[in-house]
Amino acid sequence: MKEIVSVFRTFMAYLVRPHLYPELGRKIYKNIFDRKSAFKGKEEAEKWCSDRAVSQEEALKELGINDIEKLENLFPEYFEFAKNAEANCPIKMGGAGALDLIYNLCEYTQAKNTLETGVAFGWSSLAALLSISKRNGTLYSSDMPYLGRDNDVYVGCVVPDNLRKNWKLFRFADRESLPKIFKEQQEFDFVHYDSDKSYNGRMWAYDILWNKVRKGGIFMSDDIGDNAAFMDYCVNNKREPIIVEFDGKYAGLILK
Ligand SMILES: C[S@@+](CC[C@H](N)C(=O)[O-])C[C@H]1O[C@@H](n2cnc3c(N)ncnc32)[C@H](O)[C@@H]1O
Repeated sequence: MKEIVSVFRTFMAYLVRPHLYPELGRKIYKNIFDRKSAFKGKEEAEKWCSDRAVSQEEALKELGINDIEKLENLFPEYFEFAKNAEANCPIKMGGAGALDLIYNLCEYTQAKNTLETGVAFGWSSLAALLSISKRNGTLYSSDMPYLGRDNDVYVGCVVPDNLRKNWKLFRFADRESLPKIFKEQQEFDFVHYDSDKSYNGRMWAYDILWNKVRKGGIFMSDDIGDNAAFMDYCVNNKREPIIVEFDGKYAGLILK
């Protein structure tokens, strides 16, 4: 019964958001024909990740960055603002990930143009913006809300107003957002994938995004132990990733 109520709520949430109808069509197809995509190959992927995983510090060292700069120390006032914004938000969303890693990778690539998929509270957006705003760059983000939670107005709430002039948020599913973003910008210094975590969703996005990373830029994907998509992508395309473990999860980095 609980599941039926949740499916009904999600369906109604899609219905009042016509800009997400294409995603509704894909979700219906997925739920009928492709239900196992979320965890396909999870066990093998987790082992592949744990065999290769290093800490954030070690990952940055591999790239030649010896002193990892901690956002909390560098920008205590932004951090405080963000923590309060999250605490005061009436709706719970995906929380902070590897923020220091994201910030340092934007610094490493001296990023001006960055792209991320998946915003939620906006912690990863905040980390990227704190770096790229120094160079007056632009963060292009793609995000659709958590359907059924009505969190639209709170998406990105940890990002303060003064950083928003460097931020373009596209509020569609990735398959609609990305073509719109690419009309504005073709090449990126840093790309962070953190939205549709299904196997097929990742496999659709990875190569499209990789092709938009400039030479010397970095592609990052979160939660790569959830299923085998990142592992398969790297093996099939002979990419040599750095696997980073934090909070019991894995992120993958590929230097281009
Ligand atoms: C894990 S959260 C992002 C967290 C954020 N990157 C951070 O580290 O602070 C994932 C977000 O992606 C959104 N999302 C899920 N599937 C999506 C899709 N197909 N297109 C765009 N956004 C999607 C979710 O609604 C949610 O807002």
